[in-house]
Amino acid sequence: MKRINTLHSDITFSELAYGVWRLAESQPTTSSTEAKIQACLDQGITTFDHADIYGDYQCEQLFGDALKANPSLRSQMELVSKCDIALISEKYPQRRVKYYDTSRKYIFQQVEQSLKHLNSDYLDTLLIHRPDPLMDVEETGAALDDLIKQGLVRTAGVSNFSVWQWKLLQSKMTNRLITNQIEINLFEQSSLWDGTLEAMQLDQLLPMAWSPLAGGQLFNQSLNPELESVLKRIEQNQHCQREHIALAWLRMHPANILPIVGTNNLDRIKALHQVNNVELDRETWFELLTAAKGSEIP
Ligand SMILES: NC(=O)c1ccc[n+]([C@@H]2O[C@H](COP(=O)([O-])OP(=O)(O)OC[C@H]3O[C@@H](n4cnc5c(N)ncnc54)[C@H](OP(=O)(O)O)[C@@H]3O)[C@@H](O)[C@H]2O)c1
Repeated sequence: MKRINTLHSDITFSELAYGVWRLAESQPTTSSTEAKIQACLDQGITTFDHADIYGDYQCEQLFGDALKANPSLRSQMELVSKCDIALISEKYPQRRVKYYDTSRKYIFQQVEQSLKHLNSDYLDTLLIHRPDPLMDVEETGAALDDLIKQGLVRTAGVSNFSVWQWKLLQSKMTNRLITNQIEINLFEQSSLWDGTLEAMQLDQLLPMAWSPLAGGQLFNQSLNPELESVLKRIEQNQHCQREHIALAWLRMHPANILPIVGTNNLDRIKALHQVNNVELDRETWFELLTAAKGSEIP
């Protein structure tokens, strides 16, 4: 598995990341979580994507239990986490509504909680999970810089931010934001067309793609027949699986998109390196794009 350099830090990521959002759904034990982590590391997938809220605030802890059981794992990986979404949850009975909080106090509190849950002294990257209309950019930017200064976080980034939203936050920071994590997949192509991926290249932000398999939609029985037929043809010609085709499709984009896969299935995790066996030429890339879009490009 290749490494992806970030341009404003010495951190490198693996060219696929593993996302921990769905971990709690699989009712994991510490050893089953460790097996998933090990299966990733064995293939060179070293980047793990978390958020404070995943699994109703449980996933970081489940993952952290595996790091506690096997402390040698931490130094072999990069931990990404996120905060600012305050969920309605039994853990926070006083909350009346879901909201975003990018205040210094909340960001520090959530990072400290993530580190405790993950059994780690630092995060490799902290992302602001969603743009917050009430974000005081001076305060949030300074909080991110201070987290880096204090060594709690090595680098900072954003998620689901538009170009102006990240530019404004960046304008108030000393450290450079290194990534914007957004939804990109065959069915969510807007960033390919609206200038977002070009702006990320200009600002040297690494695009991380969440739900790269459209959250499993690629495997629906009712998948549109054009896409089904293009995928089937590639699967047969290249003896490969469709998840690897969809990941290779993202990897072919020149912005160096880093897909974050979310399967809970150990065999599927073990097969992820097969993404590198898929070869797509330009016409096949557009064939997939057109079939998923459902109409010819202009
Ligand atoms: N920043 C954000 O706002 C944001 C939002 C959402 C997600 N994320 C991140 O992105 C990560 C990935 O998201 P995701 O889980 O939606 O990614 P995904 O990889 O697009 O979808 C995973 C889903 O696809 C299913 N799947 C995969 N391969 C399959 C196959 N061969 N046959 C049938 N089903 C298959 C999985 O089921 P199985 O488990 O059965 O394989 C799982 O339900 C998350 O873990 C999280 O870290 C970030």
